Amino acid sequence: MELYNFLKDITLQAGENIRKQLNEPLLIETKSNPNDLVTNMDKATEKFLFDRIQDTYPDHRIIGEEGSGKDIDNLNGVIWIIDPIDGTLNFVHQQENFAISIGIFIDGEKYAGVVYDVMRNILFEARAGHGAYKNGVKLENITETPLATSIISMNPNWLTKDFTRDIYIPLVRDSRSARSYGSAALDFAYVASNKINAYITLRLHPWDFAGGLIIVEEVGGIVTNQLGEPVNLLTANSIVVANKSLHTEIMNDYLSPFKLELEKIHQGRFSKR
Ligand code: IPD
Ligand code: CA
Ligand code: CA
Ligand code: CA
Repeated sequence: MELYNFLKDITLQAGENIRKQLNEPLLIETKSNPNDLVTNMDKATEKFLFDRIQDTYPDHRIIGEEGSGKDIDNLNGVIWIIDPIDGTLNFVHQQENFAISIGIFIDGEKYAGVVYDVMRNILFEARAGHGAYKNGVKLENITETPLATSIISMNPNWLTKDFTRDIYIPLVRDSRSARSYGSAALDFAYVASNKINAYITLRLHPWDFAGGLIIVEEVGGIVTNQLGEPVNLLTANSIVVANKSLHTEIMNDYLSPFKLELEKIHQGRFSKR
């Protein structure tokens, strides 16, 4: 089976496994803090995907949130970047609004990405250079919007912190409205499908955005860090994803004035995955 079809096939199978086991008891553990949860289903889904990829493509390398490929420090060859459940808090509390996110890169170049909204059975997919699709229907290029008529997505936690409040409040204030979905992968997919016009966040890991980046860039979306630089697939990053003119407006009018503060925040914070 061609690699792209294999990617979609195992994603859909992984989603079906999750749906089938939704009523089984969950084992919930905490990671870095009491609100950073991981479940047996996050781990089982990563293992399912890891095993399927290794069986079929033993020379491919895999980076996953729940431990796969921790030692990978370059992008040589075929690399899968996997978030088995993006939106674990939604998964635990709501049993919906979470996604499987996968991006495949070959020698650092985009190959293909998927974001699968498991409970709604909506597959966002893209092969670099071949357009992006939502359940088989080609997505249009996203529309350019000024902030004043844009819906932006942002985790409200960033508005509660002393070191970021002043940077982000004007963005929320000047937008049409703000949303927070709790799954970065879905945020990227929603920008790609024009449901929202931008997503801004201060810290994501490569597995949160690897799939979504490939999808949104296929429809004209721009993805950078908050200093306007390309994102790094091997470290944590800040993120601005938006249609082209809105990305320029956010960078020029809202983030650049805080360049020094943002540089300080970035120093040291984003050196590690
Ligand atoms: C999280 C979600 C969330 C984002 C966090 C991520 P996880 O991923 O994408 O929306 O705000 O930064 O860590 O842990 O649920 O896979
Ligand atoms: Ca997590
Ligand atoms: Ca994630
Ligand atoms: Ca996750």
